[in-house]
Amino acid sequence: MEMTSATYASLDPTNLDNFKNPLHLPGDDGLMGVLDASDAPVRFTAQKESVEILPGKRAHLLAYHAERHGKTYVNPTFKVRKGKEFSAEFANNLDEETTVHWHGLHVDWRMDGHPFQPVPSGATYRYSLPVQDRGSTYWYHPHPHGRTAIQTYSGLSGLYLVEDEDERKLTEALDLRFGETDIPLLIQDKVLDESGNVVYVPGVMQKVILINLTPSPYLEVSTRIYRFRVLNGSNARTYRLAFTMVGEDELLPFQIIGTDGGLLERPQEVSEVFLSPAERVDVLLDLTNFEVGEEIVLRSLPFDPMHHEHEMKMGGGMDHMEHMNHMDHMEHMQTGRHHHMDHHVSPTQLSDGSAFYLLKLVATGKTDYSGSVPETLSRMPQLHSGGATTRPITVSMTTDDRGMQWLINGKTHEMDEFPFVVQRGAKEIWEIHNDEKSMPHPMHIHGFQFRVLERIGTPEQVAHLVVDDKGRLVPDLGFKDTVLVWPGETVKWFIDFSHGFEGEQLYMFHCHILEHETAMMVNLKVV
Ligand code: C2O
Ligand code: CU
Ligand code: CU
Repeated sequence: MEMTSATYASLDPTNLDNFKNPLHLPGDDGLMGVLDASDAPVRFTAQKESVEILPGKRAHLLAYHAERHGKTYVNPTFKVRKGKEFSAEFANNLDEETTVHWHGLHVDWRMDGHPFQPVPSGATYRYSLPVQDRGSTYWYHPHPHGRTAIQTYSGLSGLYLVEDEDERKLTEALDLRFGETDIPLLIQDKVLDESGNVVYVPGVMQKVILINLTPSPYLEVSTRIYRFRVLNGSNARTYRLAFTMVGEDELLPFQIIGTDGGLLERPQEVSEVFLSPAERVDVLLDLTNFEVGEEIVLRSLPFDPMHHEHEMKMGGGMDHMEHMNHMDHMEHMQTGRHHHMDHHVSPTQLSDGSAFYLLKLVATGKTDYSGSVPETLSRMPQLHSGGATTRPITVSMTTDDRGMQWLINGKTHEMDEFPFVVQRGAKEIWEIHNDEKSMPHPMHIHGFQFRVLERIGTPEQVAHLVVDDKGRLVPDLGFKDTVLVWPGETVKWFIDFSHGFEGEQLYMFHCHILEHETAMMVNLKVV
């Protein structure tokens, strides 16, 4: 049953009065429960699961499920120590094939959940990964051919935390505890029905924003430093994150300490950050000077979603109505059909780039807190991009009789073609240009982390966040596996294709708007 507008009204993320649901925090079991996988292999499945999303109602969704020592985990948070081996026996209990992709990790491609390694319904697969990655918040999600968007949206995604020496020092310096003061925020927007079931239906526009699967959440905090590991696990929506006091517009300062691939060298103070699908940002919020009773809110600030692809057909800018219908639009692209934007905009729609709230923080306790932020968080290896070869890449859109098509270097994805061939150990600069008549695309590569060298042609609404003479933003200072490229912008990244995995390695490079991924994807071969 479709959600009634009364139900939606109680979940509408633009109304702060709705933020009455306690944020789900990962504990030792249950939803997002932490499963230490450093010392023993784990077993997990993908299956149908029921979870309380709307208060008092059991919703059906798809989830990863694990059991160990009498405990049950739903979308477990796998925790591993660097230098160990992660080994997981996966059973596919879905009605269709799937794979498990370990997003952001250095892996042998056979362990990457590549669509070439499908796990049929009823079958099992052993994923074993040497943990060589920097300490950070990675994640895992399905990646079967053509079904990544719907399976991920239906609930399949979990966190994968790598711990290393830098992480240990930070945790100690700030006296952090995962699930209490070190809190993952997995942000996803979904269409729900009246029972809270996740509905992946093209054309339905009611949007509920969930954090750790809690709609309109709040969290009780005390006067100390909090760490938030924010993961944008949405299929398509970008967030412009900022904190304010409730009822005020002035942005509160916070610190970015890490990105997709781990901690930065030093904390960086900011007042806002864009986070596109699949990106992570690791944040510290200092509440030591707050008073009991004060309320803070994490929100997404309004921005221009820059859907300039329409200018191609329409020969002009988008008007408001078109913006409002954009999400609808992308859902249709999945089916290959393209709707004209003439339907009526209901009050329950939440357009891309609109303003809304994400999480209310309520200061309820005073703490004597003596933690302090270390000046140095990690050592980042020097960037030596000299001698690297440059690979120019263009992303763009075309319209043909099948509707809109997103392209990389003028082509859509072909499963059996390998346009990008790289020598093992090669150092390359990828120069990714997004066409003017395009929209923002979060570009992602499998198997490697890269460093952003430069941004050129950054739009005004982002350019005010630039921190150096290379046009970089704060998250560009760290290791990344996904980067948002705005229309008209060029992002240059440096990537070192050294690794110890034997034989030919087949990875992929694609847009992480999951509805784009089937077309906007290129096979990458490391030889
Ligand atoms: Cu999280 Cu191929 O992506
Ligand atoms: Cu990936
Ligand atoms: Cu895209």
